[in-house]
Amino acid sequence: EKGGYDHFMMKEIYEQPNVIKDTYRGRLNANKGIVQMAGIEDNIEKFLNAERILIVACGTSWHAGLVAEYVIEEFARIPVEVEYASEFRYRNPIINKKDVVIAISQSGETADTMAAIKLAKENGAFVFGVCNVVGSSISRESHAGAYTHAGPEIGVASTKAFTTQITVLTMLALRLAKAKGTLSNSDYHRYLMELEIIPEKVKEVLSTNDITKEIALKFKDSTNCLYLGRGYNFPVALEGALKLKEISYIHAEGYPAAEMKHGPIALIDEQMPVIVIAPKQGHYDKIVSNIQEIKSRSGKIIAVVTKGDTQVRELSDYVIEIPETSDALSPLITTIPLQLLSYHIAVLRGCNVDQPRNLAKSVTVE
Ligand code: F6R
Repeated sequence: EKGGYDHFMMKEIYEQPNVIKDTYRGRLNANKGIVQMAGIEDNIEKFLNAERILIVACGTSWHAGLVAEYVIEEFARIPVEVEYASEFRYRNPIINKKDVVIAISQSGETADTMAAIKLAKENGAFVFGVCNVVGSSISRESHAGAYTHAGPEIGVASTKAFTTQITVLTMLALRLAKAKGTLSNSDYHRYLMELEIIPEKVKEVLSTNDITKEIALKFKDSTNCLYLGRGYNFPVALEGALKLKEISYIHAEGYPAAEMKHGPIALIDEQMPVIVIAPKQGHYDKIVSNIQEIKSRSGKIIAVVTKGDTQVRELSDYVIEIPETSDALSPLITTIPLQLLSYHIAVLRGCNVDQPRNLAKSVTVE
């Protein structure tokens, strides 16, 4: 049942090229310039009239929401706010009839996310669910939605659910951009093409498995770890840190790289592994200078870089090379080596990877 892998988590990491394809199958056709999902087509006016989009979720799904904030705002120019469902539901938030609320949940059973949806509905908002489990409570409670087609996710640490959530939300952003004319024709088509070949790139980046295992051997006894990224890769840094915490029990923090100097830089010494997501796109020069700041304080640098990069390589103790992708789609690629790294560290520490202590796959109580 684990398909020859030692753990469900590894099986699910390796399923990602296929399940991303399953998620866009029948919805995305780059040659024809089409991206469509029934739940959006049927309600396109709601999205186009929205004064803002509010995203509610927990944990890894909340991280997918953060990626979506960046993608939707950039592509479709609709203001987006992302909230932890548990905070949203208890803080008497302002919800307007013209708000579209997107609830993201792998299980579709998370109690706080469910309560956030109910509150949004009571206040007249339109609720769109992005769930993996078909027929789940959240998918039923939403006015409309789009399923991720990741298949059953057994490992408690979410992997393929995250990348398929990002796939759905990127398609949503592209669909809205097309309707609103907020992306140039050439950019729109380029993103469609790129999204269609993302599974090939994910396959390619899975070949970093050996190097991540080597890195895991070096750092398995660390007590702390920092993850840094900027722009689209800031949420990926948060997700990388969460993955390490939950399965290896190593304390880890994710930060936007530029926030380092506002506090966390005080933690850096030769004992501190710092994982920096530094692809060639986006804020490359800025992140290079952040890496120099870490280097000058003797931090151990593990960098995720675009294939062929030399500048970051020179500054780093270890590099993990990934294929080139545009900035907006890079989370689908950069997140993979971080999943592998957490997996190998947890295995080397003898942790129960698929069933980490104190955690449940679906959190049906608040
Ligand atoms: C982390 C993890 C959790 C879930 C969170 C939300 O790996 O699995 O943080 O992401 O409990 O669960 P769903 O998406 O089912 O609402």
